[in-house]
Amino acid sequence: MTDFRLVILSDTHVSATHPLFFHNFEVALEAANALAPDVVIVTGDLSLNGPDAPGDLDFAAAQMRRFSAKVTKLVPGNHDVGYSPAALSAEQRITPERRQKYLERVGPDFWKFDYGDWRFIGLNPFLFESGFEAESEQLAMVVEAMSYSGPIGVFTHVPFFSDHPNEDDPDTTATVRPGPRADYLGLFDAADLRFVASGHIHRNKRVIVDGITHIWAPGTAFMQSTPSPLGGVPWVGFLEMTFSGERFSIVTHEPEDMINMDLRNWSRGSEHRYFRIVEHPHRSPV
Ligand SMILES: [Fe+2]
Ligand SMILES: [Fe+2]
Repeated sequence: MTDFRLVILSDTHVSATHPLFFHNFEVALEAANALAPDVVIVTGDLSLNGPDAPGDLDFAAAQMRRFSAKVTKLVPGNHDVGYSPAALSAEQRITPERRQKYLERVGPDFWKFDYGDWRFIGLNPFLFESGFEAESEQLAMVVEAMSYSGPIGVFTHVPFFSDHPNEDDPDTTATVRPGPRADYLGLFDAADLRFVASGHIHRNKRVIVDGITHIWAPGTAFMQSTPSPLGGVPWVGFLEMTFSGERFSIVTHEPEDMINMDLRNWSRGSEHRYFRIVEHPHRSPV
């Protein structure tokens, strides 16, 4: 039986040109390294504007190398590669070119590795319904990985659902759409899968369905207090998981130096302010 600790950070949204959230990243980085975890996973939205500003991907990749854990693994968010082409309401969608930039500048967008008694899998949920060759390659990796005889944990940016797999999600960008959701949850149910950890919503939440704990990790960058049917608690911080054999526990960290930036204004109007903020030169005294 191997004991180890794993830190999940999410939604760091760092950028060299628009360092809106860099203070919180630095605080989270210091706090995470102080815990001396064995593994660090960052569940996407590493950068602020990766799809249109590849320099943000370079900057994010360099920052993620500052974690001192033995193993640091990253999965892409919509702010790194864009949404699935099936997310019709999304303004930034993945293209083969955007994905290639992520692969070259950050690393693999889906992966698996074994640690202790566990198998961990990282996903790129924006390949779902993309029609890219990599969509079937990722699925084949997951099918093969599910044959593992021990416990399995999955890391991905977008949660598979909010409260129940059968819910009808009117927003195609908050959670995985019903088609790939059914496909992947079917594979998970047939294997010894214990948890799915995701980011994207910037809320701290746990839902247990069919013995699988769906863990929503808070972002380090910001929260959004706008009332939402998605539930959970708007939060700024990160999670620490302690594994003992096949068991795990979760602690939420909220370092005192972090700023609980609330982006509710960004989604008040008809268009999301993010797209205007990244076009505007950063407002800085320097
Ligand atoms: Fe995010
Ligand atoms: Fe996101």
